[in-house]
Amino acid sequence: MKILVIGSGGREHALSDAFVRSSAVETVYVAPGNDGIAASDGPVEAVAIEADDIDGLLAFAQEHAVDWTFVGSEAPLALGVVDTFRQHGLTIIGPTKQAAQLETSKRFAKEVMAEAGVLTASYRTFDANQLAEAQAYVRQLTPPIVIKENGLAAGKGVSIVASNAEAENVLANVLSEAESQVIIEDYLEGPEFSHFSLVSGDQIIPLGVSRDYKRACDDDQGLNTGGMGAVTPVTAYDEELSQQIVDEIVLPVAHEMVRRGQPYTGILYTGVMQTEDGFAVIEFNARFGDPETQVLLPSLTTDFVSILEAHLSGEEIVVERDEQVRVGVVLAAKGYPQSYDRGFVLNLPPLPAELTIHWAGVKEENGQWQANSGRIAMISAAGITVAEARQQIDRYLETINNNQLHYRRDIAQELIEDEQ
Ligand code: AMP
Ligand code: GLY
Repeated sequence: MKILVIGSGGREHALSDAFVRSSAVETVYVAPGNDGIAASDGPVEAVAIEADDIDGLLAFAQEHAVDWTFVGSEAPLALGVVDTFRQHGLTIIGPTKQAAQLETSKRFAKEVMAEAGVLTASYRTFDANQLAEAQAYVRQLTPPIVIKENGLAAGKGVSIVASNAEAENVLANVLSEAESQVIIEDYLEGPEFSHFSLVSGDQIIPLGVSRDYKRACDDDQGLNTGGMGAVTPVTAYDEELSQQIVDEIVLPVAHEMVRRGQPYTGILYTGVMQTEDGFAVIEFNARFGDPETQVLLPSLTTDFVSILEAHLSGEEIVVERDEQVRVGVVLAAKGYPQSYDRGFVLNLPPLPAELTIHWAGVKEENGQWQANSGRIAMISAAGITVAEARQQIDRYLETINNNQLHYRRDIAQELIEDEQ
């Protein structure tokens, strides 16, 4: 088979690895991919077409007789890549533009959840012309106050502020843009999980649970990022946890999408918090998580192509995973998610055999590997315990001598403490 993966990050690197592991796959094209993906083992080619160039992607898939296209990132979904490919009779894994609104419109997601009877934080929305009302509203709330920009924000559009005055400032900032819209929602507390399933109408194939670490700095300090590390499994009972999330959230939402005549297809990422009142949805994404995918996919022992075949045909499949724990730490450019340098030389020591690297913002120039974005790579390891996996990573991180890189030193620390 020939596979086309759309996207350019570590998630797409993990996807291309998963396809390469399948004996059914002859070539994996990644558009646009990155220089690290292009240099990885196996029949992988990076193709210089941007993820939002829908016409370019379509022409490429047709010319190269691509069998399946897998959408890694959200931007092409919002542009209707799935609709376009299907109109041309091509097989593509992902939701239509309308169904992808579960991610692209928080307001849409809230409406679907209300109809489906799924627990989520209560909320109010305000448009750009309602700044004064929004500010009056937050003045009478008890902090912490959660303010979310509506629309795609790569996980960075959420502010959780500790004072009413700060909330008013955030609103003034966000609502200063025409057409902008915010959601102000109740603050929830509890452990967080990222749950992944493949959904096709009413068919759900659960793929597992992971956790990502969104704040830039240790002890969950600093700004929200796209994700600075990940771990899977997250509990000793992830399978039961996954089943509960499917029963209480994924299935009712899938039913509601069918009822609306907008059946969901593709990966559904359910971000949940286990609150005192039960599992509450924090967000949906219409794609895999980055960096969760980099630890989740290597854990699956069922062939990824077989899983997708079951998804496309509606046949039953039980997805198996190995007994190992996987932890990953993201290497970022210092300053991310705000301003940071690009183009500095990485100088990473050679990677020991027990570690895996998934490349994101990286560029090769004159034989040197350089930073090319905020998140540069993720280093991951497998172990019988979380502590063992983290030790392997820590040993490597200690050998890195580059003060332009930033990474967290406490990824999965709470799970290590539970093990002791
Ligand atoms: P989101 O982009 O919606 O996933 O939000 C990013 C992060 O902000 C989440 O992973 C949570 O840690 C936090 N967050 C979002 N919404 C809430 C909420 N209602 N209450 C508490 N924390 C939240
Ligand atoms: N890791 C969070 C996301 O992919 O949105």
